Amino acid sequence: MHILVTGGAGYIGSVVVEELLSDGHHVTVYDSLSKGHRAAVSSRAEFVHGNLLDSERLKSTLQQRRIESVIHMAADSSAAEALRHPAKYYQTNLLAGLSLLEVMTNSQVTRLVFSSTAAVYGERYWQRIEETDPTDPTNIDGKAKLAFERAVHWYEQAYGLRYATLRYFNAAGATASCGERHHPETHLIPVILQVATGKRRRVEIYGDDYPTRDGTCVRDYVHVVDLARAHLLALNILDERSAVYNLGCGGDGYTVKEVIDCASKITGQEIPARVGSRRPGDPAVLVASSKLIEEDLGWSPKYQGLENIIQSAWCWTQDHPNGYERVASSRRARAAAIGEAYGRRSNGRRTRQI
Ligand SMILES: NC(=O)c1ccc[n+]([C@@H]2O[C@H](COP(=O)([O-])OP(=O)(O)OC[C@H]3O[C@@H](n4cnc5c(N)ncnc54)[C@H](O)[C@@H]3O)[C@@H](O)[C@H]2O)c1
Repeated sequence: MHILVTGGAGYIGSVVVEELLSDGHHVTVYDSLSKGHRAAVSSRAEFVHGNLLDSERLKSTLQQRRIESVIHMAADSSAAEALRHPAKYYQTNLLAGLSLLEVMTNSQVTRLVFSSTAAVYGERYWQRIEETDPTDPTNIDGKAKLAFERAVHWYEQAYGLRYATLRYFNAAGATASCGERHHPETHLIPVILQVATGKRRRVEIYGDDYPTRDGTCVRDYVHVVDLARAHLLALNILDERSAVYNLGCGGDGYTVKEVIDCASKITGQEIPARVGSRRPGDPAVLVASSKLIEEDLGWSPKYQGLENIIQSAWCWTQDHPNGYERVASSRRARAAAIGEAYGRRSNGRRTRQI
């Protein structure tokens, strides 16, 4: 299948592209490079430098390349930035998406996998969140994505669009060639690894008086390869129906302190941390249940376990100290290190080497 990946130069998108290519698909990446990296896109994929709001460019891309399905990953997703620039977030996460839907409809492309967010559920959850739980987003990212989810539903009713919406919290980990590089970085694991490499002095812990096992917030971390696999699996249902699925880590999540301790063991570095006050609106526990996608599509996280996740991110960080700005110095060392990271599952069995 010829698949268009919007945002395919971004962190998760670049891994989705790798997985699609290894599954034998033909891939075109459509990305404005506002946050992504050209070097993150596999040389086996075609690349179009364009903004989703540029309908003409998008239309010619879909039509000339005979695109059959779209995986929509392009978005802005920093909660802090969204508070400063809400208009930008509505533009990218809602308007640009609507532009995509319009062009898809006019080009008779009716298959969409949408990378949404579990932020659509809001903040009042204590147990694993299920797809049937009410949505009540409290941040701009969640609100704009939920509005887009609703638009997608009406495009199905009116124009026969088929969609699979995937909702998840924290993507984490890396493959040999693709890892997380945002400017500025706000996600916990890459921030910790910046401390381990001396690029940052310490980690801020926002509150340690939550009713959790060690007082710090519990969050869900799903390996980026597992997320990418879910996007591929979701493509398979589109001939028959539309669906909404959560993707979770498969367990009860990890506290901030557990993540820091695990990273300290893996990197062999002390990770200084400072406990600050709670951030407004930060719930104690956010973990998604992936029971439905497990039952329907047989998806469950393969790289379960924080150690696997952090080890892969640490290998990538060491091999790419300047992110995508430098070509890897030793491919063999990298392959060995990443192979080691992926060589053990939490149950001790060997699994595939990347
Ligand atoms: N990273 C996470 O933990 C996480 C969690 C839940 C959901 N998501 C969702 O997954 C998707 C990918 O996230 P990510 O972390 O890889 O983000 P990212 O910022 O690394 O990648 C997003 C990509 O979209 C591109 N882009 C942005 N606006 C565009 C536009 N108007 N036109 C074309 N391209 C545009 C950027 O250049 C970038 O390459 C997003 O939709 C995000 O909301 C991410």
